[in-house]
Amino acid sequence: MGCSWLLILGLIQIVAHSLEIQGSGEEPIPVIAHNVTGVLEEDVYLSCEYQGSAQINKAEWKRRISSSKFKRLAGFSNGELFSRGDFSKPDSPTNLTVRMKVSSVEAEGEYICEFQEEEENPFGSVFVTVIAKPDIRIEVNSETINDTHYQLVSCSAVGGRPIPQISWLVGGRPPSDFPFTVNESKTLHSNGTSTLISTLRFPTHLQDEESVICVVKHETLPNPKSTTANVETYGKLISAAFESL
Ligand SMILES: *[C@@H]1O[C@H](CO)[C@@H](O)[C@H](O)[C@H]1NC(C)=O
Ligand SMILES: *[C@@H]1O[C@H](CO)[C@@H](O)[C@H](O)[C@H]1NC(C)=O
Ligand SMILES: *[C@@H]1O[C@H](CO)[C@@H](O)[C@H](O)[C@H]1NC(C)=O
Ligand SMILES: *[C@@H]1O[C@H](CO)[C@@H](O)[C@H](O)[C@H]1NC(C)=O
Ligand SMILES: *[C@@H]1O[C@H](CO)[C@@H](O)[C@H](O)[C@H]1NC(C)=O
Repeated sequence: MGCSWLLILGLIQIVAHSLEIQGSGEEPIPVIAHNVTGVLEEDVYLSCEYQGSAQINKAEWKRRISSSKFKRLAGFSNGELFSRGDFSKPDSPTNLTVRMKVSSVEAEGEYICEFQEEEENPFGSVFVTVIAKPDIRIEVNSETINDTHYQLVSCSAVGGRPIPQISWLVGGRPPSDFPFTVNESKTLHSNGTSTLISTLRFPTHLQDEESVICVVKHETLPNPKSTTANVETYGKLISAAFESL
């Protein structure tokens, strides 16, 4: 009798233990990967590490090119590390950290890293966001309409991604409505970048400051970038007029 009680107790413990295992839910995926942002024409690191303990027979980075097709990019296969195109060889079969050159905006998207164990294929996913540093240019032009001389200062942020923000400072302050006008135009290029041109326009006879500043804000710039343009002032305009008399 005492023996069978022990048996029942033992059975209860076994059942409780197996319930506990089931209750702990799915095994966490033993793969660590993080999303990254890459700058166009620079390098970015895609990192993916296998944290499990099983033997890895095969491992690879791949990208989906259609619903059923993948492109293999770098990894470990037939006992060797491999890579192609813009990718470097990974560190090891369990550390698929690779360097990728961001050669075009098409590099943006999801990358899958997959490991082949005996039984399972644990995988991770990394989303790469591509940004591009704009070239900043500034230029001063003038026009005379109905005897009024105007200056137009154009500040261009060429080939940025995403589109940058441009603002102006005149005498250390944002230009007030009058007599300044600001016009913006945006162009989207086929390479996935954009150009933003902001034009500050004012009548020269109402301008006291000898320079204006264009401020460009963008993800690729740690601080907003200021560019100064020298402009003509009312004083200069008058002395030039006297000289020509
Ligand atoms: C994985 O490889 C990268 C690049 O070589 C290295 O920086 C990183 O420390 C490695 N991770 C581990 C856990 O060894
Ligand atoms: C990575 O980026 C993708 C796409 O933007 C997003 O759906 C996912 O939640 C991100 N993952 C992490 C861990 O931030
Ligand atoms: C220039 O003067 C003409 C005649 O007074 C006027 O019709 C026109 O609107 C003016 N143009 C501008 C840009 O102010
Ligand atoms: C993208 O195209 C624009 C316009 O043609 C060009 O100015 C810019 O340099 C290009 N950017 C890259 C990274 O090729
Ligand atoms: C702003 O730009 C648009 C398009 O280039 C032009 O039609 C408009 O006249 C400009 N406005 C000013 C105030 O310069």
